[in-house]
Amino acid sequence: MPNVGVWLIGAQGSLASTVVLGARAIARKLAPGGGLVTELPEFALLPLVKLDDLAFGGWDLAPAGLVAHARALASETAAVPESFVTQLEADLAAVEACVRPGFASGGGPANRARGTRAFLPRRESLAVAVERLGDDLDGFRHAERLDSVIVVNVGSTEPPLELTRDHARLEGFRRLIQRDRRERVTPSMAYAYAALERGFPYVNFTPSVGIAVPALQELGQKHHVPFYGSDGKTGETLLKTVLAPMFRCRNLEVLSWEGFNILGGGDGRVLADPRHKRSKVKSKSGVLGATLGYEPHTRVGIEYVPSLGNWKTAWDFIHFEGFLGTKMSVQFIWQGCDSILAAPLVLDLVRLTEFAQRTGEAGPMTHLACFFKDPLGVRVHAFPEQVQMLKDYVARHTKNGRKLRRAR
Ligand SMILES: NC(=O)c1ccc[n+]([C@@H]2O[C@H](COP(=O)([O-])OP(=O)(O)OC[C@H]3O[C@@H](n4cnc5c(N)ncnc54)[C@H](O)[C@@H]3O)[C@@H](O)[C@H]2O)c1
Repeated sequence: MPNVGVWLIGAQGSLASTVVLGARAIARKLAPGGGLVTELPEFALLPLVKLDDLAFGGWDLAPAGLVAHARALASETAAVPESFVTQLEADLAAVEACVRPGFASGGGPANRARGTRAFLPRRESLAVAVERLGDDLDGFRHAERLDSVIVVNVGSTEPPLELTRDHARLEGFRRLIQRDRRERVTPSMAYAYAALERGFPYVNFTPSVGIAVPALQELGQKHHVPFYGSDGKTGETLLKTVLAPMFRCRNLEVLSWEGFNILGGGDGRVLADPRHKRSKVKSKSGVLGATLGYEPHTRVGIEYVPSLGNWKTAWDFIHFEGFLGTKMSVQFIWQGCDSILAAPLVLDLVRLTEFAQRTGEAGPMTHLACFFKDPLGVRVHAFPEQVQMLKDYVARHTKNGRKLRRAR
């Protein structure tokens, strides 16, 4: 089996810390693999990389945070036993020591104060930055003797940026970099560019624009690299895409679907800024119309409640009309530990992306749509149909002995 590097953008955050803690806990047999889609029996025949064979590193705006977040997951959030963190502290500290300075320019006002810290290079042009980021990835690969490195964006949500003609083609995008047009290039784009330019797959787990830029997709295709995004589907939107198909199949007309989310943590703090929040609301808003075939009255509220820490609550009210025009309603309350919901999906995405690259696949990995709120190039949002796309992909690979043998 290959040795695989996982390079996390936002490596000192809650989600990144939980990814590292979880992978190490499972590898060291402290915890079972529950919550990982790739541990389902359907995936047993796919030769996916083992969690023991993953090495971690990444970029962030601060030199520390990973170990502290892992500790908070046990002590403040009570999501995992304290003994996990104690037993894994040396592993976590080793990954924290590998975290390299990221690129902050254009990441939005909610991250500006953090971005000015001494950890980051100052007055660096875009062209110099993408070379430095690419060198980090090559350096990690060589130092850890890795067969491949998968880059996953779990950094703070950026405000949206309107795409222009310069983002349409690779040539134009390269010009933006050479001319240091930093107002047109956000960190998620710079990271995607650096990864794809050096031939490393890129997955965007956040609502930041990243791989949605056509020029970057062209770059991925040019270097024959797999990529995908955007925004992991872990809570309220997951439930929406499960329930909406039911309303459609029972011919129950949804009149209104009002969703109200409260969350704490770093993500909540960043999303409290309306400029950053716009990206999250946008990525959450496409699913109902696409699934129902019409647009009910709908609203997505997101509010920051610092005391909640890593916990998140979503309350949704669905007003619908049935037989003889009778109006009824459904309400649900979803309470989840944000990074515990998301971390296994990040590990699933790493394993499936690495497999795709090893089997010679490239371009958008549309079979991974079920993991995302806003899946690139896929109009299907209904969760059961998206899961079928993944099952069909697995079936194709497990029936095809030639591909399987090549991937081993
Ligand atoms: N359930 C979930 O946890 C979930 C689901 C879907 C999407 N997401 C997305 O994942 C991301 C991370 O969530 P989190 O809870 O870990 O947030 P967090 O605030 O705890 O962590 C984000 C990390 O990114 C770092 N960062 C900010 N700007 C950066 C930059 N330019 N370069 C490198 N690092 C940078 C921050 O310093 C921080 O360490 C968010 O965008 C969130 O919307 C999370």
